[in-house]
Amino acid sequence: MYEKFYGLREPAFNLTPDPTFLFLNKRSKDALDQILYGIERREGFAVIVGDIGTGKTTMCWALLERLARKDIRTAMIQNPMLSELDILRSILQDFGVRPKRKQPSLDFDGLGDETKEIFDADWMEGMSKKQLLDRLNMFLAERAQENVFSVLIVDEAQNVSTTLLEQLRLLSNLETAKKKLIQIIFVGQLELNQKLKALSMRQLNQRISVRFETKTLSREDTERYIRHRLAVAGGAPRLRFGSGTFRAVWRYSRGYPRMINLICDRALLAGYAERAAVITPRLVRKGALALKGLEDAGPKLSQGWFRRLMPFLIPAVFLLSVLLFALSKSN
Ligand SMILES: Nc1ncnc2c1ncn2[C@@H]1O[C@H](COP(=O)(O)OP(=O)(O)OP(=O)(O)O)[C@@H](O)[C@H]1O
Ligand SMILES: [Mg+2]
Repeated sequence: MYEKFYGLREPAFNLTPDPTFLFLNKRSKDALDQILYGIERREGFAVIVGDIGTGKTTMCWALLERLARKDIRTAMIQNPMLSELDILRSILQDFGVRPKRKQPSLDFDGLGDETKEIFDADWMEGMSKKQLLDRLNMFLAERAQENVFSVLIVDEAQNVSTTLLEQLRLLSNLETAKKKLIQIIFVGQLELNQKLKALSMRQLNQRISVRFETKTLSREDTERYIRHRLAVAGGAPRLRFGSGTFRAVWRYSRGYPRMINLICDRALLAGYAERAAVITPRLVRKGALALKGLEDAGPKLSQGWFRRLMPFLIPAVFLLSVLLFALSKSN
């Protein structure tokens, strides 16, 4: 809507975890490198946890993008509310596993049947959990023989049942003499940490080689993040952020990237409505208030100012009383 007015090529503050907009501060860049290193070294498991809207799914897509290589096969589960069977089916599907069925041989050599891969979208229907797991194991072993290794990313892993988490761990137990067959990255909200600490999860917990927590952004990083997204979206040559505007976005969003996107989007919309070239803290406030329920989600600017004045207020009141007391004495 406002893109044309501000000279943006595309929306800068969409709510999709699009890796082309990926912003990495030093901490998250190091973490991404470490996870990729762990995968290269076939270390087994990595875990990414974080509060809601801090960029976990965005990290997943960034990882998938970096893992798009000929010698790596990837799969990602995004909806672990599915049943265990459905999760297994979706892992197989995402890895591109095909059924192996006996097909009549096309050779006229009279030697009988041969095993062929044929495409049949419903081939997993009716298969038991064991059959699905066996097929997955077979697939992983075959890839390993071709020197292709497999990476599975499980988003929202806090919702995966303990039984299935354990079964996925067992998958990684299967290894050839030299290497593990699968690398798994579990991604989830902070309660995933609790889940992994449970007694039944100890074996998995001990095998996690990289752990990373996505965090809210600092004021400085909030500014970098906004500038970065605007630059990726075309630079916005006709748009300026006034002094104090980044701070206002940071205060209202508390540094949560999803909230930063929402607030910036609404602030730009409010700016466009006024044909304003400069986005001011007032427009940010207007945009933030336009977001339903935001008043409860972040501190109000006025409260921020008040809190900042507090340290000066108490000594000032004290000095004033001393002064008044001295004056009354001198009279
Ligand atoms: N590092 C980042 N770089 C660019 N954009 C980001 C980054 N982190 C988060 N975002 C943006 O913030 C929004 C929320 O991010 P994301 O969906 O990845 O969070 P999440 O932690 O997976 O949230 P939830 O807990 O709800 O699943 C997305 O619109 C995404 O574009
Ligand atoms: Mg997510």
